[in-house]
Amino acid sequence: MDKNSLGLSIGTTLDRFIKKMQDEHSYATGELSQLLRDIALAGKIINREVNKSGLLDIAGAYGSKNVQGEDQQKLDVIANIRFTRALKNGGMTCAIVSEEEQEIIHLNQNCRYVVCMDPLDGSSNIDVNVSIGTIFSIYRRISPIGGPVQDEDILQLGTDQIAAGYILYGSSTMLVYTTGHGVHSFTLEPSLGEFVLSDENLTCPKDGKIFSINEGYYYQFGEQIKEYLEECKAKEMSARYIGSLVADFHRNMLKGGIYLYPATEKSPNGKLRLLYECNSLAFIAEQAGGVATDGINRIMEIEPTSFHQRTPFVIGSKKMVDRVTKLSTMTDTVLG
Ligand code: AHG
Ligand code: MN
Ligand code: MN
Repeated sequence: MDKNSLGLSIGTTLDRFIKKMQDEHSYATGELSQLLRDIALAGKIINREVNKSGLLDIAGAYGSKNVQGEDQQKLDVIANIRFTRALKNGGMTCAIVSEEEQEIIHLNQNCRYVVCMDPLDGSSNIDVNVSIGTIFSIYRRISPIGGPVQDEDILQLGTDQIAAGYILYGSSTMLVYTTGHGVHSFTLEPSLGEFVLSDENLTCPKDGKIFSINEGYYYQFGEQIKEYLEECKAKEMSARYIGSLVADFHRNMLKGGIYLYPATEKSPNGKLRLLYECNSLAFIAEQAGGVATDGINRIMEIEPTSFHQRTPFVIGSKKMVDRVTKLSTMTDTVLG
């Protein structure tokens, strides 16, 4: 049987893996481990809701808009409630920033961790049984424990993340996370209801043959993006775009590729959110040997100024992302 570097076999449960990681790092208090277990529990609950969405009346639009002015799907709302409840009951989180809520969700102010989350990513794919996901980032609060959570606790650099990850509800359900010591993936074993280790220390190939972008916006892209796409086509690379960031990113990390959601004329800051989409995946990508930028700047060094800030986003295999950066620097513009 395969053994990984912690001496654990493929198939080890997530709980055991987290405990082993905690034991390896003498400074760990066990609180982060508990928080990761809370997130895994939330993922299992959301997975259950997603799996039965065709049977219950929980697919389709909820009839309201989120803070971005986008239509909320019923499952967006359900995932937000489920996730928030799991973190509240887990008792390790002082505050959440969620894509689905304008303001900070205040939980127990005696706790040290802040969570930024996209409870359900890829909402346009919910109704059609295509892969969707949950994305999260974890920060240690800056303000003193016991007092109210401040904006500065949320508006931290991506480099300050202490953990990040995603849950992919795909042909199987998978949890992928990092605490800054490599990227590890776990598959949900449905009959056991447990996440079990699939891969430790995942690495993203340095180069790849897949490019993922919504080319429907081609005429709105900057010249450097258009030029890069022409290069991809000249090399007969494969175009793959699911429209669920988590799923597109996951495939490209495993196979080698690039995902781009650049600025467009209509959305000069792109569409994706820095705090709970881009930073989380950037941390994973870098831990796997990949790169994440806004076209020029490293994503994890962008100073956040608001909870729901957007940024152009280019992520994936190092050589491919570096090429976009080179073209962007040559045309001297990030936003096109
Ligand atoms: P969300 O469902 O959380 O709002 O995110 C959707 C995002 C992302 O998952 C996806 O890659 C992108 O929106 C697709 O946008 P386009 O339809 O504009 O390509
Ligand atoms: Mn999203
Ligand atoms: Mn979402």
